[in-house]
Amino acid sequence: MNLLRRAPLLAPSFLAADLANLQAETERLATSAADWLHFDVMDGRFVPNISFGLPVLQAVARYAKQPIDVHLMIEEPQNYLSAFRDAGASIITVHYEACPHLHRVVQQIKQLGCRAGVALNPHTPVALLEDIAADLDLVLIMSVNPGFGGQAFIPNTLKKVAMVKSLLLDAGSDALIEVDGGVNMTNAGPLVEAGADVLVAGNFVFSAPEGPVAALANLRDHLAGLEMNTAAADRRQ
Ligand code: DX5
Ligand code: ZN
Repeated sequence: MNLLRRAPLLAPSFLAADLANLQAETERLATSAADWLHFDVMDGRFVPNISFGLPVLQAVARYAKQPIDVHLMIEEPQNYLSAFRDAGASIITVHYEACPHLHRVVQQIKQLGCRAGVALNPHTPVALLEDIAADLDLVLIMSVNPGFGGQAFIPNTLKKVAMVKSLLLDAGSDALIEVDGGVNMTNAGPLVEAGADVLVAGNFVFSAPEGPVAALANLRDHLAGLEMNTAAADRRQ
């Protein structure tokens, strides 16, 4: 069986971009292998760091060619959903741990015309999504503790991705599985094989010596190569 059943989407994270040159960064991603632009919002309360918010998203959206994937690492995200939609978000992901009324928040995101995602911190069990899975467009599995770019990938994520995959199948949900944190050339293949549909990458893309456009192209080629090898192995069986 070909486990790499379709090309995963690549979502470079602006957190690692040159924040003094966001127009240039957004424009050079426009013709890259990036499928989505990942935008990390941190409030200094839900996570121990503050990043950027609505005015910066608005500025990026003026130059963006790809859908903007907004990852809200904030408390009380329900108060800001329409503002993020108006600023340019296509996908809005809230944290399970930040939403006592998660079902309502997910419906609100969808009513705004955005895709709705729910993120799980590394310690949050996948099984908690059972009663919301059918309502979701996206499940984001954190593969580091949220708050900072450049952290090491937590290996248990692979098991979690496989568990989400099976939970979504059981729920009849076609939600995409996104993985965020420490993604690189080594873990990307195993993640896709485990069921990941969207790979977020910050430092791997923006700190690459060859530059972000080449780093994304290399990652895309690497994954396509794995897919071809798997397909060839399938044919030999
Ligand atoms: C972490 C953010 C990530 C981060 C990923 O809290 O949600 O999106 O930017 O960056 P890397 O790929 O450097 O771990
Ligand atoms: Zn993120």
